Amino acid sequence: MKVVVIGTGYVGLTTGVALAYLGNQVTCLDIAPEKISKLKNGQVPFYEPNLPELLEISRANLNFTTSYDEAGIGSSDVVFISVGTPSLPDGNADLTYVKAAAEALGERLDHAFTVVVNKSTVPIGSGNWVGTLLREAYSRRKGSRPDGMYGVASNPEFLRQGSALLDTFYPDRVVIGSEESRAIDTLTNLYRPILNQDFPAPVHLPRPDGLSAIPVVTCDLASAELIKYAANSFLALKISYMNEIGHLAEKVGADIKQIARGIGLDVRIGPRFLQAGIGWGGSCFGKDTAALVAISKEYGINMPIVQAARDVNYHQRTWVVDTLLHELKILKGKTVALLGFAFKANTDDLRDAPALDIARQLIQLGARVRATDPVALGNARLFHPDAGIIYCDTPMETVRGADAVILVTEWPEYHDIDWVEVKKSMDNPLLLDGRNFLDRHEMVRLGYRYVGVGR
Ligand SMILES: NC(=O)c1ccc[n+]([C@@H]2O[C@H](COP(=O)([O-])OP(=O)(O)OC[C@H]3O[C@@H](n4cnc5c(N)ncnc54)[C@H](O)[C@@H]3O)[C@@H](O)[C@H]2O)c1
Repeated sequence: MKVVVIGTGYVGLTTGVALAYLGNQVTCLDIAPEKISKLKNGQVPFYEPNLPELLEISRANLNFTTSYDEAGIGSSDVVFISVGTPSLPDGNADLTYVKAAAEALGERLDHAFTVVVNKSTVPIGSGNWVGTLLREAYSRRKGSRPDGMYGVASNPEFLRQGSALLDTFYPDRVVIGSEESRAIDTLTNLYRPILNQDFPAPVHLPRPDGLSAIPVVTCDLASAELIKYAANSFLALKISYMNEIGHLAEKVGADIKQIARGIGLDVRIGPRFLQAGIGWGGSCFGKDTAALVAISKEYGINMPIVQAARDVNYHQRTWVVDTLLHELKILKGKTVALLGFAFKANTDDLRDAPALDIARQLIQLGARVRATDPVALGNARLFHPDAGIIYCDTPMETVRGADAVILVTEWPEYHDIDWVEVKKSMDNPLLLDGRNFLDRHEMVRLGYRYVGVGR
C-alpha cells in the first residue's frame, strides 16, 4: 500500500520503517528539516535500539520529505498522523500539531480513498474533529466537498521507547476504531502480516517463541481513543500503587521486591509494572493521565484513582530529596551524583524525566548535582544546559567526591560498574538505588549505606 506518516518521532518513524519493511511504499513527513536531512542520510535523529539497522534494510521503500505537496497524500491509501500531543498547563492535550497536520493533509485529499489515522494519543472526540478539519480544509482550497475521499480512523499506539520495533512487529494487540467499515478494512489489510505473523522476522528482531497471531480489536472511534488513555493510566497506577505499598513496606520492615513477586504471581495481577522506584516519567504517562483527568472534568466526572496515581508518582521525586536530607542532614554544599538521566533505560528521552525534577530540587536546597547517562547526555546538554547540573561523560567522573549517589535509570551498564572504585571515589558512601536495581547485600558488603525504595 501507499502510506504517508506525518511526524517522524519515536512513534511515526518506527511505524514508517516497520511498514516499509513489510513491503509498503512509505513517505515519512516532518516539519523539522534537520530530522529529515538526517533521515535522508540514513541517520536516526534519536536513540532507539535496532531502528538504524531496520531503516537501512527498508530504505528502498522509504521516502523522507518536509513538503506536504511532495508527500503524495492524495494518492495514498493510508495517512498516519503521529505528531506530538504534549500537555497544556491545564492538563489537556495540546492539539496544535494535530490540527496543523490535519488541515495540511485535508487540502491535499484527492479522488483516491485515503484513510486518515490518528496514531497520536488524542482526546476522545478527536476523530470527529479531525474529520471536520479535513473537510473544511479541502472545501476552503477546492471549493467543493471531499465526499468519499477519506475515512477517519483511530489506531492508538502502545509501543514502548527502547523496544519500539519489537512492540510494533509483535504487539499484544492492534486497536482500530472507526465509524466506516472501509477504513477498518483498509487498516486491517495493512496490518495483515503483523496480525497473521507471516512476515519474515528481521534478523535483529526475532519473533518471540510461539507467537502466531495478534488479536485485533475493532471498535468505534471513541472507544479506540479511550482504550489508549485507559491503558496508559492503568499501567501508571500499577506502578504508583506499588510505590504506595512500598512506603508502608519500609515502615513495617517488609521488602517491596518480595511483595511484588508475591502478588505478581497471581495471574489476575501479573508480574509487570509492579516495580517500586522513583516513579514513572517520559512522554506518555504524565501527559496522558493529566489529559484523562482533564477530559473527565469536561463531562463532570472526577477520576480520583487516576489523580491519586499522579500524586503518588510525583511525590516519589520529593521522597528522594527528603531521604537524602534525612541521611545527609545538610544538603548545602554537598555533592550528589545521578547515575542515569533518561526517564528509563534504552532511550535518550528526557520528557518528564524524574532526574530533572530531583536535580532541580537538590540544587534549590544548595546541593551540587553531577549527572551522567550513556545516551541521553547529548539531549541533557542541549535541552537543559542552564539547569545548574554538571554533566559528566563517565560514571567515575560523576561520582568523584560525591556525598551520595542516586541510581536514577536502570541502565544495564550501571549494574556492572566497578562499585569498589565508585566507593573509593566518593566522599561518603551513601547509595540511593532509585530502581531497586542493584544487589542490596553486595552493596552493603562493599561498605555502602544502601537505601532502596520500599525495603
Ligand atoms: N513516545 C512513545 O513512547 C509513545 C507511545 C505511544 C503513543 N505515543 C503518542 O504518539 C504521538 C507522537 O509521540 P512521539 O513520542 O513520537 O513524539 P515526538 O515528539 O518524538 O515526534 C513528533 C514529531 O512530529 C513532528 N511534527 C509536529 N508537527 C508536525 C506537522 N504539522 N507536520 C509534520 N510533522 C510534525 C515533530 O517535528 C516531531 O518530529 C504522541 O501523541 C504520543 O502521545 C507516544
